[in-house]
Amino acid sequence: SWAHVEMGPPDAILGITEAFKRDADPRKMNLGAGAYRTDAGKPYVLSAVRRAEAALLAQGLDKEYQAITGVGAFTRAAAELAYAGAAGDLGRVAVTQTISGTGALRVGGEFLRRFHGGGERTVYVPAPTWGNHAAVFRDCGLKVGQYRYFDAQTNGLALGAMLEDLRALPRGSIVLLHACAHNPTGVDPTAAQWAEIQQAVEAGEHVAFFDMAYQGFASGDADRDAGALRAFVAAGRAPVVLAQSFAKNMGLYGERVGTFSVVGADAQERARIESQLKIIVRPMYSNPPVHGARLAAEVLTNPELRAEWLGEVKGMADRIIAMRAALRARLEDAGSARPWQHITDQIGMFCYTGLTPEQVDRLARDFHVYLTRDGRVSIAGITSGNVQYLAESIHSVTKA
Ligand code: LMR
Repeated sequence: SWAHVEMGPPDAILGITEAFKRDADPRKMNLGAGAYRTDAGKPYVLSAVRRAEAALLAQGLDKEYQAITGVGAFTRAAAELAYAGAAGDLGRVAVTQTISGTGALRVGGEFLRRFHGGGERTVYVPAPTWGNHAAVFRDCGLKVGQYRYFDAQTNGLALGAMLEDLRALPRGSIVLLHACAHNPTGVDPTAAQWAEIQQAVEAGEHVAFFDMAYQGFASGDADRDAGALRAFVAAGRAPVVLAQSFAKNMGLYGERVGTFSVVGADAQERARIESQLKIIVRPMYSNPPVHGARLAAEVLTNPELRAEWLGEVKGMADRIIAMRAALRARLEDAGSARPWQHITDQIGMFCYTGLTPEQVDRLARDFHVYLTRDGRVSIAGITSGNVQYLAESIHSVTKA
């Protein structure tokens, strides 16, 4: 019997969507999971993706298995998008297609457990970090620790504390870094701050594990958003591995399109690493699904579609920025005495509001506004039609 199987808790992020769906109030707002919505509050399939889909359909492709490492045209184009020239001609970069960013973290965690310190090493994640990071790495058999990142006083980066923690880590630790658009805080280091972080990681001989889920989405400029990753790779002093997702920046959420890559020393090393990535993937899911990867490859390699896509990413980033400004202005207009500048200072899909779990609970109960209990708001769920209602609701639960 399975009577001993206990009911598990709902997921901290995806569970919010379930609660939202159960609410019948017409004013309800889902600011939980980070999934882009148009200003009409609707999911958005990018025009470049629609056109790529039509082009693929016209080609009448078969559904044969691809390599264990996935669709070659996709992994090449994805690595080129991430690294550009920073790793030379990419001949030394081992890359495998993954089940989006989460799958990339999982494959990456497995790789590090096998080939970096025999699982005795700890992955250090920022405090706070994406709600799924620790679970992914623990399921890989890795230990998980934290370094300080967010300063609740300033709602900004706790650079001094972060550097202090990075410098105190055991030599050869694994340091998880959000490449851009830090989730959940929306607080990214400046280029000068990144240089100090890089120095601390290199001095400790740590592995830099970049999680890049928002390339192009943070600033609207895909090269700028990959700046920190490329600086680490170009310096060549710290081992770099990368989890890359196309869920947000191409709107391919449910298609599960991503990569995991390892920057090796040369082509021989790359070949050896890739052979091990195959050995990790094969018993896990054999080989990855093809459709989403073909779509992304088409968008990335067709110059016209690529240009259209970059324009659309910029459009999404701009709508997010406009909604940040609108929310802050409406809160101030509503007479809120709290400082809200961090709403416009932070970037990416999320705002880390500073609301307490109790205030978040009240928002759901009294106002039908749903967000994660850490006070993170997915800005993508805000529209010009509901921003006023949201500001009034937040003001109600935060005024003394
Ligand atoms: C989020 O943080 O809301 C997104 O990355 C969605 C997810 O899978 O958690």
